[in-house]
Amino acid sequence: MSHQVSESSQHTHSVIGYKGEPACLMVKQSQGLEGSVRLAGAKNAALVVMASLLLTRGKSLLRNVPASADVYNMVQLLQELGAEVHFDDVHNVVSVDTTHVYGYSVSADLMNKMRASVLVLGPLLATQGKAEIAFPGGCVIGDRPIDYHLKNFAKMGVTVTEHDGLLSASVDCLHNRNLLLEYPSVGATENILMAAVLTEGTTKIINAALEPEVFDLIDVLKKMGACVDIEVPATIKITGVKTLHSVDHAIIFDRLEAGALLLAGAITGGYVIVPEAPAHSMGLFLMKLQEMGHIILIGPQGTGVKIKATKKPKAVSIKTSPYPSFPTDLQAPMTAALVLSHGTSVVQETVFENRLMHARELVKMGAQIEVTYGSTAHIRGVEALYGTQVIASDIRASCALVLAGLAANGTTTITGIHHWKRGYQALEKKLQELGALIELFE
Ligand code: UD1
Repeated sequence: MSHQVSESSQHTHSVIGYKGEPACLMVKQSQGLEGSVRLAGAKNAALVVMASLLLTRGKSLLRNVPASADVYNMVQLLQELGAEVHFDDVHNVVSVDTTHVYGYSVSADLMNKMRASVLVLGPLLATQGKAEIAFPGGCVIGDRPIDYHLKNFAKMGVTVTEHDGLLSASVDCLHNRNLLLEYPSVGATENILMAAVLTEGTTKIINAALEPEVFDLIDVLKKMGACVDIEVPATIKITGVKTLHSVDHAIIFDRLEAGALLLAGAITGGYVIVPEAPAHSMGLFLMKLQEMGHIILIGPQGTGVKIKATKKPKAVSIKTSPYPSFPTDLQAPMTAALVLSHGTSVVQETVFENRLMHARELVKMGAQIEVTYGSTAHIRGVEALYGTQVIASDIRASCALVLAGLAANGTTTITGIHHWKRGYQALEKKLQELGALIELFE
């Protein structure tokens, strides 16, 4: 079934769930998840690739687009700017016709729902020389400023003014520059890259983020006709072209959903196969699972992962940092697995300053975690967790709590499920296929 998403149909989820309670996920202890499960496309790649279509005029097709709430938000955002968008969410195909995109202003409502809305700045500046947005919302995982984006746009000649939380950006003609990022921010890299592809001359982004999702964007831009190269160690070199054309592109598979499914196998002592898992971009995460004692088998050409979980996992320590190091987006789910591992683990979150809020909720379930300096969790493995009522504070925290619920005695009730829906396409159904006792009440 194909339908046009022209209104916020995805946000019609009731706040009233079962028996008049708030919307929630109910998870019961589920041992030994087993089976093979299909992976969705990467939400973080889909969002930026959808934004990049604003650089073109005409009709593009994107395949393997996950039907998560953030993607529906991006559909709405493109429609607000004048694009005609159809999302066949059964086949995960989005068609976007940008022929009549004249808008340059994004409503505060959309900006508040999703931080990734900021990614339209680059394409709008490149094509229309102006953009108006509110400061972005999204997950509450730290301050999450956009100063790296704005500083570098300013170096490219953009004038930015702010008042009452609204931001106006304008430029007559973008300048090419050597732009040095003080931190390899994913969003800033993507935004500047999109601004630069139509900028005359050569622009360099030095100390760029090189996450797989950034590479997916680069692939799409090249298909559009952009000229983009990578220089060692982490510079993206862009030679501006005059116009870009529409594309047909399949979004990469989601390494973060793959991580969640493998951890579901790990935490329940099961045997889970994810045939499309991009093992080649999950190196350190898979290595840590092995160090815990799980058997990990990787398919040919680095695609596909099987996990045969040990029933006596060992504690390991992790430290998040930009790719190819341990991804911050798998920190919360991994923390859930570590609370039931033998020994002491240290989890250091270095990417976001406030991304251990799930620790407090896991403690309610019986975990022994001490958080120091707000960013380091010292975990002493416990024998068992106990189901209770917990609150998801961001997308990946919701995943952590679901995983903990699968292993906990009794029933775990998780509220704040809009985060779960923002990040994953019906992941609860995939877990059910593997034998999990999980139900989403809306
Ligand atoms: C993206 C991902 C998110 C992931 C993160 C890091 C999307 C939609 N989201 O978020 O899931 O967790 O990368 O892999 O792709 N920062 C600044 N100023 C800025 C920009 C960033 O200080 O202008 C800081 C942030 O607060 C954070 C760090 O830099 O502490 C990294 O942020 P960044 O890589 O930009 O993350 P996002 O692009 O927001």
